[in-house]
Amino acid sequence: MEIKEMISDLRTRMQSEMASAENKQALEDIRVRMLGKKGELTAMLRSLGQLSPEERPAAGQLINEARERFTGMIEQRSAELKALERAAALKSETIDVTQPAQMPEIGSKHPIHRVMDEMVECFMGMGFEVLEGPEVELDHYNFELMNIPKNHPARDAQDTFYVDDNIVLRTHTSPMQARAMLSRKPPIRVICPGRVYRADEVDATHSPVFHQMEGLVVDKDVNMADLRGTLNAFAEKIYGKGITTRFRPSFFPFTEPSTEVDLTCSNCHGAGCRICKGTGWIEVLGGGMVNPKVLEMCGIDSSVYSGFAFGIGLERIAMLRYGIKDMRLLYEGDVRFLGQFR
Ligand code: PHE
Repeated sequence: MEIKEMISDLRTRMQSEMASAENKQALEDIRVRMLGKKGELTAMLRSLGQLSPEERPAAGQLINEARERFTGMIEQRSAELKALERAAALKSETIDVTQPAQMPEIGSKHPIHRVMDEMVECFMGMGFEVLEGPEVELDHYNFELMNIPKNHPARDAQDTFYVDDNIVLRTHTSPMQARAMLSRKPPIRVICPGRVYRADEVDATHSPVFHQMEGLVVDKDVNMADLRGTLNAFAEKIYGKGITTRFRPSFFPFTEPSTEVDLTCSNCHGAGCRICKGTGWIEVLGGGMVNPKVLEMCGIDSSVYSGFAFGIGLERIAMLRYGIKDMRLLYEGDVRFLGQFR
């Protein structure tokens, strides 16, 4: 075949192949096959040796011209492909600005922590400092310094989980009273919210893990009326105007005298309803004057200082506040329940 015909044949095949090349890689394959070092055009150049010396220069020139034209053709097709790719990308990446946004799901604060935060704010407003302490506590703080010696029957009511003979999961936040008194000098005003543990069976009103907030004030001339005034202010702040307290005599080894404290039923405002079982009052916390023995054990001179303390159950406050009838709901982590508290 004449060189001219061979070139023209190559050109025809290249054109048809290039037309169906759909991307850059396909085009590059064609270029390598036709114009590359081992390509067809290069092979033609090599075969010039078989021609007579007179024919060679003209044939060589034809091939070189062809190489230039073909390279131009490839470049042009490459630019076309680029434009096509860009158009396709623009089309597929179009953003529909009218589509509703996908909002991230936002969590909500757990009801226990809602009341905890509210209570902390309330007591901070009265000048209390917030203290947190260990849930895995020494028997010494949880019981001994709270005037509950080993083998004392008061331990029965607060059976717990023993890590060993001297380490327990704290049964109340009261050990924080001792920690506060041992680490500070009067005047002391602290609240200590946190998790506590007891060997209780789970039911609608009991859980082996629950929450309390301890309060402690130690100063000169602190008396029961101060406790009453403090708790009345707390009751109004959390449950609203007209909610007050009722003190009933009680017993705790670490307070003397001790009191059980009821709040006006926030549901009926004292008239009597099903929630307060017709009494108009709801029992929510224990408190009293810090037992002088406890003050002394914690290094405070009971002839100079006196104090009051109280312990509030947070589950009870949250359940009353939000009308939750079963305590277990607070621990199951069901988002249908928890999502209601926003
Ligand atoms: N620690 C007691 C309880 O858990 C409550 C309490 C605290 C009572 C402080 C008096 C003073 O039952």
